[in-house]
Amino acid sequence: MDYPKQLIDEATRRIQGYHVEGFVAGQGPMQPKLMLVGEAPGKTEIENHIPFSGQAGKELMNALQSVGLSREEVYITSAVRSRPYRIVQRINGRTQKSEIVYPNRTPSKAEVFAHAPILDYELQHVRPQLIATLGNIGLQRLLGKDYTISKNHGKLYTGPVLELNQQHDAYQYSNKQYKVLPLFHPAAIFYNRTLTDTILADWQTLGELLHQKI
Ligand code: URA
Repeated sequence: MDYPKQLIDEATRRIQGYHVEGFVAGQGPMQPKLMLVGEAPGKTEIENHIPFSGQAGKELMNALQSVGLSREEVYITSAVRSRPYRIVQRINGRTQKSEIVYPNRTPSKAEVFAHAPILDYELQHVRPQLIATLGNIGLQRLLGKDYTISKNHGKLYTGPVLELNQQHDAYQYSNKQYKVLPLFHPAAIFYNRTLTDTILADWQTLGELLHQKI
């Protein structure tokens, strides 16, 4: 998506001072059946500017395929559009020399708030039939901290979502109603294989919702 320069300037200003790098725009058609809201881009995405093009992306593409959708049919974005990183000093196992590395990390609430104008803009302009959040970050960005992936995954929500107020200094509930299906983040499977069946069942729910044209 091409964002207005003013929006990029605002997001850049709001996220200044946090440990993040780069910027990856959301991608996909307007008025799609489905919009996916992830966490934040990782190293791979920052390099090639394609959302969900790393390891988690492969899982996601398989899941999309299982419900008859391709990347091109879906709008893909996330709560934060820059890569949050940690700063880790360690001893390199091969060279035995001290080095600093910058692994990906989950975005903080403050970083999500900083990039909130971008997701708000996308919600207003993309106008998807259904939103699926991937993991807790996207879910709580839209529905608040009372929603958790472990409790709410696979259950369709219909109602307002959180958006910034006019001053852009706090969240408020939207006047508009949205349909939101909370799904696990595709990377969840890397840490917890026992989620495999649950994740499959949730994607089946998504497939049925799309089929019913909700
Ligand atoms: N995780 C996300 O939430 N978004 C990406 O683009 C990649 C990984």
